[in-house]
Amino acid sequence: MTLDEKIGQMTQFSGSLPEYESMIEEGKIGSLLNVYGASETNRLQKIAVEESRLGIPLIFGLDVIHGYRTIFPIPLGSAASWDTAFVRKAESIAAREASSEGINWTFALMVDIARDPRWGRIAEGGEDSFLGSTMARAQVLGFQGKSLANPLTILACGKHFVAYGGAEGGRDYNTVDVSERTLREIYLPPFKAAVDAGAGSIMSAFNEINGIPASANRFTLTDILRGEWGFNGFVVSDWNSIGELVKHGIASDKVGAGIEALKAGVDMDMEGSAYLELLENEDNNKELIDNAVRRILREKFQLGLFEHPYIDENLSNKLILNDEHLKTALQLARESIVLLKNDNALLPLSKNLKSVAVIGPLADDKNAPLGTWACVGKSENVVTVLEGIKKSVSENTQVYYSKGCGVSSDNTEMIEESVKIAKKAGVAIIVVVETAKMSGEAASRSDLNLPGVQRDLIKAIYKTGMPIVVVLLNGRPLTIPWIKENVSSILEAWYLGIQSGNAIADVLFGKYNPSGKLTVTFPRTVGQIPIYYNHKNSGRPNNPSDKFTSKYIDLSSSPLFTLGYGLSYTKFKYSNIRVSSKKITSSESLIISVDVKNVGDRQGVEIVQLYIHDVVASVTRPVKELKGFRRISLDANEKKRVEFILKPENLGFYDQNMEYVIELGRFEIMVGGNSVDLLRTSFEVIEK
Ligand code: GLC
Repeated sequence: MTLDEKIGQMTQFSGSLPEYESMIEEGKIGSLLNVYGASETNRLQKIAVEESRLGIPLIFGLDVIHGYRTIFPIPLGSAASWDTAFVRKAESIAAREASSEGINWTFALMVDIARDPRWGRIAEGGEDSFLGSTMARAQVLGFQGKSLANPLTILACGKHFVAYGGAEGGRDYNTVDVSERTLREIYLPPFKAAVDAGAGSIMSAFNEINGIPASANRFTLTDILRGEWGFNGFVVSDWNSIGELVKHGIASDKVGAGIEALKAGVDMDMEGSAYLELLENEDNNKELIDNAVRRILREKFQLGLFEHPYIDENLSNKLILNDEHLKTALQLARESIVLLKNDNALLPLSKNLKSVAVIGPLADDKNAPLGTWACVGKSENVVTVLEGIKKSVSENTQVYYSKGCGVSSDNTEMIEESVKIAKKAGVAIIVVVETAKMSGEAASRSDLNLPGVQRDLIKAIYKTGMPIVVVLLNGRPLTIPWIKENVSSILEAWYLGIQSGNAIADVLFGKYNPSGKLTVTFPRTVGQIPIYYNHKNSGRPNNPSDKFTSKYIDLSSSPLFTLGYGLSYTKFKYSNIRVSSKKITSSESLIISVDVKNVGDRQGVEIVQLYIHDVVASVTRPVKELKGFRRISLDANEKKRVEFILKPENLGFYDQNMEYVIELGRFEIMVGGNSVDLLRTSFEVIEK
């Protein structure tokens, strides 16, 4: 390969501009993103394979984040299902649809841990490393299947490496300054899980990490990713994140930026033209370039692109939006819904109710449910909340509808009319939202209240004294203390994708008993941030009756809703927590068991959660850490004994010398249906 051809493999551009065709023919481009459709990808592939000197096939990348055309819930939503098997199935469907239209590579899974809901990309991630790691594994296996040689699989990409979610102020792209211990215990584990599951690529992030930008960070990209973890796929930069090293101030020009990124371990330059600049640079590091090219070609071979570079142009008709895909989208959407409150058991409603009012600015909107990163999803395929409700109620039920207000507007003129409409009905379902553009990339919010006058709309209808249900469509935790305090029934419905309206209606009318649990903490106010469940105790843990302890003088220190929280239309009772031994050595496993009984009158799914607390250690440890969960179905009055196996590696942490250790001493064990209401016991790690 000539230097031009090598650098070409390391260069990716977005779109299919005419000038790219001659560059492909000259072997100067190895990948395109945002090009899809079997005929278009085959046309461009033909240039690479049949007209360039070496005939190396292109790899086509796209952000297939939560579906291709069959759009599933946003990741923050589907994670609330805690159903890793179903998430894996959804990603395998996304892979089948995307690959049938010429895509070989997705820029997913996004596994950035986020503890700051002002950051719009929390919509794509979550707060906990253990859950993030289990979801990472499920997604890689979903996208890549058993073998990448299967033409209906696509290469996964763990992103954004690393700690992108730690941005100061929750402002996207902003500075990240974290200890190595936090880096290793909070931000890195989901990426390790993706690598261990066989992810073929990793994307380097925009942000700096403790003074070194992620796309020029040899410590993370080479020492950890390749040295410690043995990752042998390739690293692609995020969009021009190599070129942005100049803005970061660690390179004076693009050549310098390219050299920094190459030395750190970035193999492919997304839409930056930085590596192309290396062609002019004499002292090219031949070995680094050869290594980068080798890694990229290895994945192209793994994908079978050399043997089968083209896609059957009739394939997608059989796959896109087929019945199986639609059924999967509906079930995952149902499982992603979290019942936050249901006092007086107003829900589920009877589908034979006399009348219902559906109120809200986007209650009949076909765009919002697609959420951020909606790939090639089309609003025409979306079932709105109003449509779902109309399909679910009996033919004699009168359904009223009113927008009530705008999303962000401060205009309250429509509220009075909406109150009149609501009062005609026996119950009001008020759908309040962020727009899909208010979360995702470059969508940080300084205020987490409902936008506009939506809370005024709820208050106005609340004042009538009629029964109301609030349904939230949002891409991040929102500060809704008044709603939690005053509204008797609240559903968290995220952006659930194309089956949104059907899933919400199935929960509202009891066809599906809600089982979702939050994977992020909801703060009471933005002033509480950062607030997360696995916090440290400090030397003066919050004690409301002692002034001189860690708290606010003007607000409770507890969150509005905690990680792991979610209700059901039935109730589950936990009892009889046991450990297989009260003493184990650091090379033995422990079995924890607990009885869970459905004490209500209908079937339900419960997500049983296991937390640990290392009571005394050589460094401070979180007050609790999620280390296991089981998603179990119980019929009315059914009881199951649930078991967890806790392995030694689940007990470890990085000590003062940054060595991963399991120390002797007492551990608390906690099991329950959320991260607060927990049965407790303990055990001890003793000398061997
Ligand atoms: C964006 C995002 C990244 C995405 C890439 C390609 O800037 O940060 O998540 O995969 O560009 O669209």
